[in-house]
Amino acid sequence: MASNQALPLRFYGDPVLRRKADAVGSVTDDVRSLIESMFATMYTEEGVGLAAPQVGRSVRVFVIDVEDEETPRVKQAFVNPTIVERSGEVVGEEGCLSIPGIRADVKRSARVVVEALDADGAPFRLEAEGLLARALQHEIDHLDGVLFLDRLGPITRRLLEAKWKRVRPETDAPDPPSRSPDRGDTSGAAPSR
Ligand code: NI
Repeated sequence: MASNQALPLRFYGDPVLRRKADAVGSVTDDVRSLIESMFATMYTEEGVGLAAPQVGRSVRVFVIDVEDEETPRVKQAFVNPTIVERSGEVVGEEGCLSIPGIRADVKRSARVVVEALDADGAPFRLEAEGLLARALQHEIDHLDGVLFLDRLGPITRRLLEAKWKRVRPETDAPDPPSRSPDRGDTSGAAPSR
């Protein structure tokens, strides 16, 4: 594919990150081209996952390239993903290419099973634990307009919102609207490291 050029990232405060993304009707060449560009963007930015809204496209597509000591490498595009099973709970550190400079401990399911279409439009099912399970949940949240900050307790969140105002990249994006602090499922999260 000719068009695997890195795309500009959208940052926290950009409304596209808050939209619920549209399902993909069929996996066309246009979708495959987007996937190629998203891999290029993810590698340029040195991330392990990237969702389409982060490059300004409000469609249900994300890419990951994840490997850790518990997980064999998974490099994969996901179209119209859904979590069909989840179990356990685990807290671990997350960051986001759309919120650079901010990291926090986030509670997630320890194990998930995800069903999706691949870049050829073929359905597949993936069972995940560890970093892979965390990445899948983070990216699927993006498709629903949810960011990891929404899953923090109100005090941690307020601290990180203040830090973001100091460290955010220069963009034209407005300040993020404040949301109710009861959005996430973690009320007693430890302060971020
Ligand atoms: Ni992210």
